[in-house]
Amino acid sequence: MSINVSNNTKFSAKKVSIDTLKTDCIVVAAFSDGKLSSTTQQLAKNSDLAISDLYKQEEFTGKLGQQVTFYQPTKNIGKAIILGFGEKDKTSITSFRKALSGLGKILAKSTLKQTVLCLDEVEIPDCTSETKARICAEAISHGRYQYTQTLPGKKAKSNVSISYATDNTKDANKGLTKGHAIGKGMNVARELGNLPGNICTPSYLASQAKKLGKANKNLSVKVLSEKQMKELGMGSLLSVSAGSHEPAQLIVMEYKGAAKSEKPHAIVGKGITFDTGGISLKPGAGMDEMKFDMCGAASVFGTMTTLLELQPKINVVAVVAAAENMPGSKATKPGDIVTSMSGQTIEILNTDAEGRLVLCDALSYVERFKPQSVIDIATLTGACVIALGGHATGLFSNDDDFADELVAAGIKSGDRAWHMPMWDEYQGQLDSNFADIANIGGRPAGSITAACFLSRFTKKYTWAHLDIAGTAWLSGGAKGATGRPVPLLSEYLLSK
Ligand code: BES
Ligand code: MN
Ligand code: ZN
Repeated sequence: MSINVSNNTKFSAKKVSIDTLKTDCIVVAAFSDGKLSSTTQQLAKNSDLAISDLYKQEEFTGKLGQQVTFYQPTKNIGKAIILGFGEKDKTSITSFRKALSGLGKILAKSTLKQTVLCLDEVEIPDCTSETKARICAEAISHGRYQYTQTLPGKKAKSNVSISYATDNTKDANKGLTKGHAIGKGMNVARELGNLPGNICTPSYLASQAKKLGKANKNLSVKVLSEKQMKELGMGSLLSVSAGSHEPAQLIVMEYKGAAKSEKPHAIVGKGITFDTGGISLKPGAGMDEMKFDMCGAASVFGTMTTLLELQPKINVVAVVAAAENMPGSKATKPGDIVTSMSGQTIEILNTDAEGRLVLCDALSYVERFKPQSVIDIATLTGACVIALGGHATGLFSNDDDFADELVAAGIKSGDRAWHMPMWDEYQGQLDSNFADIANIGGRPAGSITAACFLSRFTKKYTWAHLDIAGTAWLSGGAKGATGRPVPLLSEYLLSK
Protein backbone atom coordinates (compact mmCIF):
# COMPACT_ATOMS: atom_id res chain seq x y z
CA MET A 1 0.00 0.00 0.00
CA SER A 2 1.34 3.43 -0.73
CA ILE A 3 -0.10 6.83 -0.05
CA ASN A 4 -0.03 9.96 -2.10
CA VAL A 5 1.07 13.00 -0.14
CA SER A 6 0.22 16.59 -0.87
CA ASN A 7 3.85 17.69 -0.65
CA ASN A 8 4.84 15.02 -3.12
CA THR A 9 5.89 12.49 -0.54
CA LYS A 10 4.89 8.82 -0.71
CA PHE A 11 5.20 6.48 2.23
CA SER A 12 5.23 2.71 2.28
CA ALA A 13 6.43 -0.05 4.56
CA LYS A 14 8.60 -2.83 3.20
CA LYS A 15 10.86 -5.67 4.16
CA VAL A 16 14.46 -4.74 3.50
CA SER A 17 17.70 -6.65 3.44
CA ILE A 18 20.63 -4.29 3.79
CA ASP A 19 22.88 -6.59 1.76
CA THR A 20 20.77 -6.37 -1.39
CA LEU A 21 19.18 -2.94 -0.87
CA LYS A 22 19.58 -0.44 -3.69
CA THR A 23 18.55 3.12 -2.77
CA ASP A 24 19.47 6.80 -3.00
CA CYS A 25 19.48 7.26 0.74
CA ILE A 26 19.28 5.22 3.90
CA VAL A 27 18.69 6.44 7.45
CA VAL A 28 20.11 4.30 10.25
CA ALA A 29 20.37 4.61 14.02
CA ALA A 30 23.21 5.10 16.49
CA PHE A 31 23.19 5.60 20.24
CA SER A 32 25.22 7.68 22.64
CA ASP A 33 26.67 4.75 24.57
CA GLY A 34 28.84 3.77 21.63
CA LYS A 35 26.25 1.38 20.19
CA LEU A 36 25.19 1.13 16.59
CA SER A 37 21.89 -0.44 15.62
CA SER A 38 22.12 -3.81 13.86
CA THR A 39 21.52 -2.33 10.40
CA THR A 40 24.15 0.33 11.05
CA GLN A 41 26.61 -2.41 12.05
CA GLN A 42 25.77 -4.36 8.92
CA LEU A 43 26.19 -1.26 6.79
CA ALA A 44 29.57 -0.60 8.41
CA LYS A 45 30.62 -4.16 7.59
CA ASN A 46 29.57 -3.82 3.95
CA SER A 47 31.27 -0.46 3.53
CA ASP A 48 34.83 0.65 2.92
CA LEU A 49 34.11 3.84 4.82
CA ALA A 50 35.04 4.23 8.47
CA ILE A 51 31.48 3.96 9.78
CA SER A 52 32.36 1.74 12.71
CA ASP A 53 35.05 4.22 13.73
CA LEU A 54 32.39 6.90 13.89
CA TYR A 55 32.70 7.45 17.62
CA LYS A 56 36.40 8.14 17.27
CA GLN A 57 35.51 11.33 15.43
CA GLU A 58 35.33 13.74 18.32
CA GLU A 59 32.15 15.46 17.21
CA PHE A 60 30.03 12.30 17.01
CA THR A 61 28.60 11.05 20.28
CA GLY A 62 25.25 9.59 19.14
CA LYS A 63 23.39 12.11 21.25
CA LEU A 64 19.74 12.69 20.52
CA GLY A 65 19.13 14.27 17.12
CA GLN A 66 22.77 14.25 15.97
CA GLN A 67 23.25 13.45 12.28
CA VAL A 68 26.25 12.37 10.23
CA THR A 69 26.22 11.74 6.51
CA PHE A 70 28.38 9.21 4.65
CA TYR A 71 28.26 9.41 0.87
CA GLN A 72 28.27 6.22 -1.18
CA PRO A 73 28.85 3.85 1.76
CA THR A 74 28.36 0.94 -0.66
CA LYS A 75 28.01 0.59 -4.40
CA ASN A 76 24.21 0.40 -4.15
CA ILE A 77 23.56 3.06 -1.52
CA GLY A 78 24.03 6.71 -2.47
CA LYS A 79 24.01 8.22 0.97
CA ALA A 80 23.71 7.11 4.57
CA ILE A 81 22.43 9.38 7.30
CA ILE A 82 23.30 8.13 10.76
CA LEU A 83 20.85 9.53 13.27
CA GLY A 84 21.57 9.74 17.00
CA PHE A 85 18.92 8.55 19.45
CA GLY A 86 20.75 9.17 22.75
CA GLU A 87 21.21 6.42 25.32
CA LYS A 88 20.02 3.07 24.01
CA ASP A 89 18.27 2.08 27.23
CA LYS A 90 16.56 5.40 27.64
CA THR A 91 14.79 5.77 24.30
CA SER A 92 11.20 6.95 24.64
CA ILE A 93 8.42 8.04 22.31
CA THR A 94 9.38 11.62 23.13
CA SER A 95 13.05 11.17 22.25
CA PHE A 96 12.15 9.24 19.08
CA ARG A 97 9.85 12.09 18.08
CA LYS A 98 12.58 14.67 18.72
CA ALA A 99 15.13 12.82 16.61
CA LEU A 100 12.61 12.40 13.80
CA SER A 101 11.59 16.03 13.81
CA GLY A 102 15.25 16.92 13.17
CA LEU A 103 15.42 14.33 10.38
CA GLY A 104 12.21 15.77 8.90
CA LYS A 105 13.97 19.10 8.53
CA ILE A 106 16.90 17.47 6.69
CA LEU A 107 14.70 15.39 4.40
CA ALA A 108 12.65 18.52 3.73
CA LYS A 109 15.42 19.68 1.42
CA SER A 110 16.04 16.30 -0.13
CA THR A 111 15.45 15.77 -3.83
CA LEU A 112 16.58 12.15 -3.66
CA LYS A 113 13.91 9.90 -5.11
CA GLN A 114 14.07 7.05 -2.64
CA THR A 115 14.90 7.09 1.08
CA VAL A 116 14.72 4.03 3.30
CA LEU A 117 14.28 4.49 7.05
CA CYS A 118 15.83 1.65 9.05
CA LEU A 119 14.52 2.87 12.36
CA ASP A 120 12.06 0.15 13.34
CA GLU A 121 14.89 -1.47 15.26
CA VAL A 122 15.11 1.46 17.69
CA GLU A 123 13.57 -0.30 20.66
CA ILE A 124 11.17 1.73 22.76
CA PRO A 125 9.27 0.25 25.69
CA ASP A 126 5.50 -0.01 25.03
CA CYS A 127 5.88 1.34 21.52
CA THR A 128 4.75 -0.59 18.46
CA SER A 129 5.98 -0.45 14.86
CA GLU A 130 2.72 1.29 14.07
CA THR A 131 3.49 4.14 16.45
CA LYS A 132 7.07 4.51 15.24
CA ALA A 133 6.00 4.50 11.59
CA ARG A 134 3.33 7.05 12.42
CA ILE A 135 5.85 9.38 14.07
CA CYS A 136 8.16 9.05 11.04
CA ALA A 137 5.42 9.90 8.53
CA GLU A 138 4.12 12.79 10.61
CA ALA A 139 7.58 14.31 11.09
CA ILE A 140 8.56 14.00 7.43
CA SER A 141 5.22 15.31 6.11
CA HIS A 142 5.57 18.22 8.52
CA GLY A 143 9.17 18.82 7.50
CA ARG A 144 8.40 18.82 3.80
CA TYR A 145 5.74 21.53 4.04
CA GLN A 146 6.70 24.77 2.39
CA TYR A 147 4.78 27.98 2.07
CA THR A 148 4.65 29.08 -1.57
CA GLN A 149 1.39 30.93 -2.22
CA THR A 150 2.85 34.43 -2.17
CA LEU A 151 6.37 33.43 -3.18
CA PRO A 152 6.05 33.14 -6.97
CA GLY A 153 9.72 32.21 -7.36
CA LYS A 154 9.50 29.16 -5.12
CA LYS A 155 9.37 25.80 -6.85
CA ALA A 156 7.22 22.89 -5.73
CA LYS A 157 8.99 19.95 -4.09
CA SER A 158 10.02 17.10 -6.32
CA ASN A 159 8.45 13.67 -5.83
CA VAL A 160 10.11 11.56 -3.19
CA SER A 161 9.30 8.19 -1.76
CA ILE A 162 10.01 7.18 1.81
CA SER A 163 10.14 3.51 2.75
CA TYR A 164 9.87 2.32 6.31
CA ALA A 165 11.89 -0.85 6.69
CA THR A 166 10.19 -3.46 8.84
CA ASP A 167 9.09 -7.08 8.92
CA ASN A 168 5.79 -5.89 10.27
CA THR A 169 4.58 -4.11 7.12
CA LYS A 170 0.88 -4.36 7.91
CA ASP A 171 1.07 -2.46 11.21
CA ALA A 172 3.67 -0.05 9.90
CA ASN A 173 1.50 0.87 6.91
CA LYS A 174 -1.34 1.66 9.32
CA GLY A 175 1.00 3.96 11.21
CA LEU A 176 2.27 5.60 8.01
CA THR A 177 -1.29 6.27 6.83
CA LYS A 178 -2.21 7.83 10.16
CA GLY A 179 0.98 9.86 10.49
CA HIS A 180 0.69 11.11 6.96
CA ALA A 181 -2.94 12.13 7.48
CA ILE A 182 -2.07 14.03 10.65
CA GLY A 183 0.90 15.66 8.92
CA LYS A 184 -1.35 16.70 6.08
CA GLY A 185 -3.91 18.09 8.52
CA MET A 186 -1.20 20.10 10.26
CA ASN A 187 0.04 21.43 6.94
CA VAL A 188 -3.46 22.55 5.97
CA ALA A 189 -3.68 24.38 9.30
CA ARG A 190 -0.25 25.94 8.75
CA GLU A 191 -1.06 27.07 5.24
CA LEU A 192 -4.30 28.78 6.29
CA GLY A 193 -2.54 30.33 9.28
CA ASN A 194 0.36 31.63 7.21
CA LEU A 195 -1.79 33.24 4.53
CA PRO A 196 -2.00 37.02 5.00
CA GLY A 197 -5.16 38.73 6.21
CA ASN A 198 -5.84 40.29 2.82
CA ILE A 199 -6.11 36.85 1.22
CA CYS A 200 -7.42 34.74 4.08
CA THR A 201 -10.61 36.66 4.89
CA PRO A 202 -13.76 35.19 6.46
CA SER A 203 -15.16 34.71 2.92
CA TYR A 204 -11.97 32.93 1.87
CA LEU A 205 -12.35 30.48 4.77
CA ALA A 206 -15.99 29.95 3.77
CA SER A 207 -14.98 29.19 0.19
CA GLN A 208 -12.34 26.71 1.41
CA ALA A 209 -15.01 24.91 3.42
CA LYS A 210 -17.32 24.74 0.43
CA LYS A 211 -14.51 23.31 -1.68
CA LEU A 212 -13.87 20.66 0.94
CA GLY A 213 -17.57 19.82 0.95
CA LYS A 214 -17.66 19.47 -2.84
CA ALA A 215 -14.68 17.12 -2.83
CA ASN A 216 -16.02 14.83 -0.10
CA LYS A 217 -19.27 12.93 -0.19
CA ASN A 218 -19.62 12.56 3.55
CA LEU A 219 -18.91 16.18 4.40
CA SER A 220 -21.80 18.59 4.20
CA VAL A 221 -21.04 22.28 4.41
CA LYS A 222 -23.26 25.20 5.23
CA VAL A 223 -22.25 28.84 5.61
CA LEU A 224 -24.45 31.27 7.52
CA SER A 225 -24.46 34.89 6.31
CA GLU A 226 -24.62 37.93 8.58
CA LYS A 227 -28.34 38.17 7.79
CA GLN A 228 -28.91 34.60 8.92
CA MET A 229 -26.80 35.17 12.04
CA LYS A 230 -28.87 38.23 12.85
CA GLU A 231 -32.04 36.17 12.59
CA LEU A 232 -30.55 33.70 15.08
CA GLY A 233 -29.84 36.56 17.47
CA MET A 234 -26.03 36.39 17.26
CA GLY A 235 -25.57 39.97 18.43
CA SER A 236 -22.27 39.17 20.09
CA LEU A 237 -20.58 37.62 17.05
CA LEU A 238 -21.88 40.38 14.79
CA SER A 239 -20.55 43.10 17.11
CA VAL A 240 -17.04 41.99 16.15
CA SER A 241 -17.45 42.24 12.38
CA ALA A 242 -19.41 45.52 12.65
CA GLY A 243 -16.31 47.67 12.11
CA SER A 244 -15.08 45.74 9.08
CA HIS A 245 -15.93 45.79 5.41
CA GLU A 246 -15.54 42.00 5.40
CA PRO A 247 -18.74 40.25 6.45
CA ALA A 248 -18.58 37.61 9.19
CA GLN A 249 -19.19 33.98 8.19
CA LEU A 250 -20.37 31.13 10.35
CA ILE A 251 -19.04 27.98 8.73
CA VAL A 252 -20.62 24.64 9.59
CA MET A 253 -19.10 21.36 8.37
CA GLU A 254 -20.66 18.03 9.22
CA TYR A 255 -18.58 14.90 8.81
CA LYS A 256 -20.71 11.76 8.80
CA GLY A 257 -18.78 8.57 9.41
CA ALA A 258 -21.29 6.81 11.67
CA ALA A 259 -25.03 6.20 11.89
CA LYS A 260 -27.24 9.27 11.93
CA SER A 261 -28.44 8.35 15.40
CA GLU A 262 -24.95 8.67 16.83
CA LYS A 263 -24.40 12.04 18.49
CA PRO A 264 -21.55 14.07 17.03
CA HIS A 265 -18.42 15.43 18.62
CA ALA A 266 -18.16 19.16 18.01
CA ILE A 267 -15.09 21.32 17.41
CA VAL A 268 -15.44 25.09 17.25
CA GLY A 269 -12.66 27.38 16.00
CA LYS A 270 -11.97 31.08 16.55
CA GLY A 271 -11.49 32.50 13.06
CA ILE A 272 -10.48 36.13 13.48
CA THR A 273 -8.72 36.58 10.15
CA PHE A 274 -7.12 39.76 11.45
CA ASP A 275 -7.29 41.23 14.95
CA THR A 276 -6.46 44.93 15.09
CA GLY A 277 -8.09 45.09 18.53
CA GLY A 278 -10.91 47.19 17.06
CA ILE A 279 -11.53 50.56 18.78
CA SER A 280 -9.39 49.25 21.67
CA LEU A 281 -6.62 49.28 19.05
CA LYS A 282 -3.54 47.14 19.59
CA PRO A 283 -0.05 48.72 19.63
CA GLY A 284 1.70 48.61 16.25
CA ALA A 285 4.74 46.46 17.02
CA GLY A 286 4.24 42.88 15.92
CA MET A 287 0.64 43.49 14.90
CA ASP A 288 1.22 41.55 11.67
CA GLU A 289 1.15 38.39 13.80
CA MET A 290 -2.55 38.96 14.38
CA LYS A 291 -3.12 37.36 10.98
CA PHE A 292 -2.60 34.16 12.99
CA ASP A 293 -5.69 34.94 15.07
CA MET A 294 -7.61 32.41 12.98
CA CYS A 295 -5.35 29.49 13.90
CA GLY A 296 -8.15 27.91 15.97
CA ALA A 297 -10.25 27.86 12.81
CA ALA A 298 -7.23 26.61 10.85
CA SER A 299 -6.85 23.70 13.28
CA VAL A 300 -10.51 22.84 12.70
CA PHE A 301 -9.90 22.72 8.92
CA GLY A 302 -6.73 20.70 9.52
CA THR A 303 -8.47 18.19 11.77
CA MET A 304 -11.29 17.78 9.26
CA THR A 305 -8.67 17.10 6.58
CA THR A 306 -7.15 14.37 8.75
CA LEU A 307 -10.57 12.83 9.38
CA LEU A 308 -11.47 12.91 5.70
CA GLU A 309 -8.23 11.05 4.92
CA LEU A 310 -8.84 8.38 7.54
CA GLN A 311 -12.64 8.10 7.43
CA PRO A 312 -13.17 7.07 11.08
CA LYS A 313 -16.62 5.79 12.05
CA ILE A 314 -17.70 8.81 14.06
CA ASN A 315 -19.77 11.92 13.48
CA VAL A 316 -18.11 15.29 13.86
CA VAL A 317 -19.57 18.74 13.50
CA ALA A 318 -17.06 21.53 12.94
CA VAL A 319 -17.98 25.18 13.33
CA VAL A 320 -15.80 28.15 12.47
CA ALA A 321 -16.70 31.63 13.66
CA ALA A 322 -14.95 33.83 11.10
CA ALA A 323 -14.75 37.61 11.32
CA GLU A 324 -12.28 40.47 10.99
CA ASN A 325 -11.82 42.79 13.99
CA MET A 326 -11.45 46.34 12.62
CA PRO A 327 -11.98 49.85 14.00
CA GLY A 328 -14.35 51.12 11.27
CA SER A 329 -16.96 53.81 11.76
CA LYS A 330 -19.60 51.22 12.57
CA ALA A 331 -17.32 49.41 14.98
CA THR A 332 -18.44 48.43 18.46
CA LYS A 333 -17.24 50.89 21.11
CA PRO A 334 -16.12 50.20 24.68
CA GLY A 335 -19.20 50.35 26.88
CA ASP A 336 -21.53 49.10 24.15
CA ILE A 337 -23.90 46.37 25.23
CA VAL A 338 -24.97 43.55 22.93
CA THR A 339 -27.32 40.61 23.29
CA SER A 340 -25.90 37.16 22.58
CA MET A 341 -27.79 34.26 20.99
CA SER A 342 -28.20 32.78 24.49
CA GLY A 343 -30.15 35.89 25.52
CA GLN A 344 -27.45 37.01 27.95
CA THR A 345 -26.41 40.65 27.56
CA ILE A 346 -22.69 41.48 27.34
CA GLU A 347 -20.99 44.77 28.20
CA ILE A 348 -18.07 45.11 25.82
CA LEU A 349 -15.47 46.93 27.90
CA ASN A 350 -12.61 46.10 25.54
CA THR A 351 -13.15 45.42 21.84
CA ASP A 352 -9.83 43.55 21.75
CA ALA A 353 -11.41 40.73 23.78
CA GLU A 354 -13.27 39.74 20.62
CA GLY A 355 -12.48 36.02 20.42
CA ARG A 356 -14.87 35.18 23.25
CA LEU A 357 -17.53 37.34 21.60
CA VAL A 358 -17.54 35.33 18.38
CA LEU A 359 -17.11 32.01 20.17
CA CYS A 360 -19.99 32.43 22.63
CA ASP A 361 -22.57 32.61 19.83
CA ALA A 362 -20.96 29.74 17.92
CA LEU A 363 -21.03 27.71 21.16
CA SER A 364 -24.74 28.45 21.62
CA TYR A 365 -25.31 27.46 18.00
CA VAL A 366 -23.79 23.96 18.42
CA GLU A 367 -26.37 23.09 21.10
CA ARG A 368 -28.74 22.14 18.28
CA PHE A 369 -26.54 19.16 17.35
CA LYS A 370 -26.90 17.65 20.86
CA PRO A 371 -23.15 16.97 20.82
CA GLN A 372 -21.46 14.27 22.94
CA SER A 373 -18.67 16.75 23.59
CA VAL A 374 -17.61 20.20 22.43
CA ILE A 375 -14.06 21.52 22.13
CA ASP A 376 -13.38 25.11 21.18
CA ILE A 377 -9.94 26.10 19.93
CA ALA A 378 -8.82 29.70 20.08
CA THR A 379 -5.82 32.03 20.12
CA LEU A 380 -7.70 33.65 22.94
CA THR A 381 -5.40 35.44 25.38
CA GLY A 382 -1.93 36.93 25.61
CA ALA A 383 -2.16 35.89 29.27
CA CYS A 384 -2.01 32.22 28.22
CA VAL A 385 1.32 32.90 26.48
CA ILE A 386 2.61 34.41 29.74
CA ALA A 387 1.36 31.43 31.76
CA LEU A 388 2.51 28.51 29.59
CA GLY A 389 4.75 29.92 26.85
CA GLY A 390 4.98 27.98 23.62
CA HIS A 391 5.17 24.43 24.95
CA ALA A 392 1.66 23.68 26.18
CA THR A 393 -1.81 24.67 25.13
CA GLY A 394 -4.05 25.94 27.95
CA LEU A 395 -6.90 23.53 28.64
CA PHE A 396 -10.08 24.46 30.52
CA SER A 397 -13.17 22.30 30.97
CA ASN A 398 -16.44 21.92 32.80
CA ASP A 399 -15.73 18.18 33.17
CA ASP A 400 -12.52 16.88 34.78
CA ASP A 401 -12.74 13.44 33.15
CA PHE A 402 -13.02 15.03 29.74
CA ALA A 403 -10.03 17.27 30.55
CA ASP A 404 -8.01 14.19 31.58
CA GLU A 405 -8.82 12.51 28.28
CA LEU A 406 -7.62 15.52 26.32
CA VAL A 407 -4.44 15.84 28.38
CA ALA A 408 -3.75 12.16 27.61
CA ALA A 409 -4.38 12.71 23.89
CA GLY A 410 -1.92 15.60 23.99
CA ILE A 411 0.79 13.49 25.63
CA LYS A 412 0.24 10.58 23.25
CA SER A 413 0.41 12.78 20.16
CA GLY A 414 3.34 14.90 21.37
CA ASP A 415 1.09 17.98 21.31
CA ARG A 416 0.66 18.75 24.97
CA ALA A 417 -2.00 20.68 26.84
CA TRP A 418 -2.02 21.69 30.51
CA HIS A 419 -5.20 21.58 32.58
CA MET A 420 -5.82 25.03 34.09
CA PRO A 421 -8.30 25.80 36.92
CA MET A 422 -11.66 27.40 36.25
CA TRP A 423 -12.98 27.71 39.80
CA ASP A 424 -16.19 29.61 40.52
CA GLU A 425 -14.19 32.16 42.51
CA TYR A 426 -12.90 33.66 39.25
CA GLN A 427 -16.39 34.26 37.83
CA GLY A 428 -16.94 37.44 39.90
CA GLN A 429 -14.29 39.25 37.85
CA LEU A 430 -16.80 39.30 34.96
CA ASP A 431 -19.54 41.18 36.88
CA SER A 432 -21.01 44.21 35.13
CA ASN A 433 -23.30 46.96 36.46
CA PHE A 434 -25.10 47.23 33.15
CA ALA A 435 -25.24 43.75 31.59
CA ASP A 436 -25.36 40.07 32.56
CA ILE A 437 -21.63 39.78 31.97
CA ALA A 438 -18.62 41.93 31.03
CA ASN A 439 -16.29 40.75 28.27
CA ILE A 440 -13.11 41.27 30.31
CA GLY A 441 -12.11 40.32 33.86
CA GLY A 442 -9.11 42.56 34.50
CA ARG A 443 -5.41 41.62 34.42
CA PRO A 444 -5.24 38.82 37.01
CA ALA A 445 -5.70 35.32 35.55
CA GLY A 446 -6.60 36.65 32.10
CA SER A 447 -6.74 33.27 30.39
CA ILE A 448 -8.92 31.85 33.18
CA THR A 449 -11.48 34.67 33.12
CA ALA A 450 -11.66 34.31 29.32
CA ALA A 451 -12.50 30.62 29.83
CA CYS A 452 -15.00 31.61 32.56
CA PHE A 453 -16.69 33.89 30.05
CA LEU A 454 -17.11 30.97 27.61
CA SER A 455 -18.33 28.69 30.41
CA ARG A 456 -21.45 30.88 30.74
CA PHE A 457 -22.47 29.67 27.28
CA THR A 458 -21.58 25.97 27.51
CA LYS A 459 -23.65 24.73 30.42
CA LYS A 460 -25.73 22.33 28.34
CA TYR A 461 -22.94 19.95 27.29
CA THR A 462 -19.52 18.50 28.10
CA TRP A 463 -17.10 21.16 27.02
CA ALA A 464 -13.41 22.01 26.85
CA HIS A 465 -11.62 25.13 25.72
CA LEU A 466 -8.10 25.07 24.24
CA ASP A 467 -6.23 28.38 24.41
CA ILE A 468 -3.58 28.03 21.71
CA ALA A 469 -2.29 31.63 21.85
CA GLY A 470 1.21 30.35 22.71
CA THR A 471 1.31 27.18 20.62
CA ALA A 472 -0.34 28.04 17.29
CA TRP A 473 2.55 29.92 15.74
CA LEU A 474 6.24 30.73 16.12
CA SER A 475 7.63 34.27 16.08
CA GLY A 476 11.05 35.57 15.03
CA GLY A 477 13.15 34.00 12.30
CA ALA A 478 11.01 30.87 12.12
CA LYS A 479 7.79 32.89 12.02
CA GLY A 480 4.95 30.67 10.89
CA ALA A 481 1.97 28.61 11.98
CA THR A 482 2.77 25.31 13.74
CA GLY A 483 -0.30 23.23 12.88
CA ARG A 484 -1.05 22.68 16.56
CA PRO A 485 -3.32 21.37 18.05
CA VAL A 486 -4.25 19.17 15.05
CA PRO A 487 -2.33 16.17 16.51
CA LEU A 488 -4.13 16.45 19.87
CA LEU A 489 -7.57 16.87 18.29
CA SER A 490 -7.00 14.05 15.81
CA GLU A 491 -5.70 11.74 18.51
CA TYR A 492 -8.77 12.44 20.65
CA LEU A 493 -11.31 12.03 17.85
CA LEU A 494 -9.68 8.92 16.40
CA SER A 495 -9.79 7.30 19.84
CA LYS A 496 -13.60 7.59 19.82
N1 BES B 1 -5.92 37.42 19.74
C1 BES B 1 -5.70 38.05 20.98
C2 BES B 1 -4.88 37.18 21.94
C3 BES B 1 -3.43 37.06 21.63
C4 BES B 1 -2.56 38.11 21.87
C5 BES B 1 -2.92 35.88 21.16
C6 BES B 1 -1.21 37.95 21.61
C7 BES B 1 -1.57 35.73 20.93
C8 BES B 1 -0.72 36.77 21.14
C9 BES B 1 -7.03 38.34 21.67
O1 BES B 1 -8.07 38.68 20.84
C10 BES B 1 -6.79 39.51 22.55
O2 BES B 1 -6.51 40.55 22.04
N2 BES B 1 -6.90 39.29 23.85
C11 BES B 1 -6.67 40.32 24.81
C12 BES B 1 -7.72 40.21 25.87
C13 BES B 1 -7.73 41.35 26.83
C14 BES B 1 -8.19 42.61 26.14
C15 BES B 1 -8.66 41.01 27.98
C16 BES B 1 -5.28 40.12 25.40
O3 BES B 1 -4.88 38.96 25.61
O4 BES B 1 -4.59 41.10 25.61
MN1 MN C 1 -8.13 40.74 20.36
ZN1 ZN D 1 -7.99 37.95 18.95
